Amino acid sequence: MSDFKTLDDVSFQGKRVLLRVDLNVPMEDGKVSDKTRIIRVADTIREIAGKGGRVVLLAHFGRPKGKRVEGDSLAPVAEAVSEILDRKVGFAQDCIGEAAKQAVDALDDGEIVLLENTRFHPGEEKNDPDFAKALAENGDIYVNDAFSAAHRAHASTEGLAHLLPAYAGRAMQKELEALTKGLEKPTRLLCAIVGGAKISTKIDLLENLVGRVDKLVIGGGMANTFLHAKGVAIGKSLAERDLAETALRIMARAKETGCEIVLPVDAVVAKEFKAGAPHNVHMINTIPEDGMILDLGPASVERVKAAISDSRTIVWNGPLGAFEIKPFDKGTVGAARYAAGRTQAKAIVTVAGGGDTVAALNHAGVADEFTYVSTAGGAFLEWLEGKVLPGVEALRKA
Ligand code: 3PG
Repeated sequence: MSDFKTLDDVSFQGKRVLLRVDLNVPMEDGKVSDKTRIIRVADTIREIAGKGGRVVLLAHFGRPKGKRVEGDSLAPVAEAVSEILDRKVGFAQDCIGEAAKQAVDALDDGEIVLLENTRFHPGEEKNDPDFAKALAENGDIYVNDAFSAAHRAHASTEGLAHLLPAYAGRAMQKELEALTKGLEKPTRLLCAIVGGAKISTKIDLLENLVGRVDKLVIGGGMANTFLHAKGVAIGKSLAERDLAETALRIMARAKETGCEIVLPVDAVVAKEFKAGAPHNVHMINTIPEDGMILDLGPASVERVKAAISDSRTIVWNGPLGAFEIKPFDKGTVGAARYAAGRTQAKAIVTVAGGGDTVAALNHAGVADEFTYVSTAGGAFLEWLEGKVLPGVEALRKA
């Protein structure tokens, strides 16, 4: 973490600390239904408050497009933060102006307030300097603990870092350390496991990875596009047949860089996409015309395990089959449990994140057994694409 200033580098006593967190959490019936993101930032909040800082939480919720939308208020989230921390968390109806100022001025050392959704103002997403200045008026120090929003160059994720002394929070620090171990300075061999339905959303990611990893395991629906591009008859399987050229280009690039691509050699095939649908295992060159590939077959799972076992670092994004419907979760679960076992045996470092990945690892019951599981969606993908994340860059020491 020598590139970034952390909470170890500053005294918080009596200071107003603008702490950017990601509270874009799932809600059901007006209540937070998954508190993982809140739990991840709780240590940073506690530490700053414990050191006598006045904690002013800044966050976005949903995509209200610069307008006040009651359904996107952070008020119910303030309650959930308070429950997790087991202490009072105040709430202000706005993140700038009089309401914010009054709430912040009323804080004592060690107290906490959450300001209303930054995206209620158009200046947030435009990274408008005047809006950033209005936010900065309520702080002496800026701490960013929202890696999962760091791919956005918004006022509260990027602009503020140029206006106040800026530090990485503990969750951001952990995330950056894990990602450095995963892709920037990995112990080799480095294997990426990439799944999910489509390659169209992951072209940049695959192009970046073939230049960096030693092995690339491709599973899920996107593997069908690669198989189709290689001339394999894939029946009625989900695939982006119009992206065959792209798949061929990625495979050609892998050859140049010496990256081994691991594709399925057999598959679990059904005639319909339905839980419990009758199914059979087929070798990849005998997929029936009316069949749909829904999961890796047993020989393919063994190949994925072998790739994991040959490697010292694994970066994982996306499920390897239709894991949400049984029994087509076996490939994802088998590979995830194997990777978790190797991690627990200290044989490998495993870093996972993005989209459905956390749900898939939770389904396999191993999310806690990986070295690091990121709660970031888009930010994790952009990192895998090799893109610069503005929220992270702005924190880098000058
Ligand atoms: C997320 O949920 O991935 C982050 O909070 C970013 O949200 P956004 O995609 O609406 O910017």
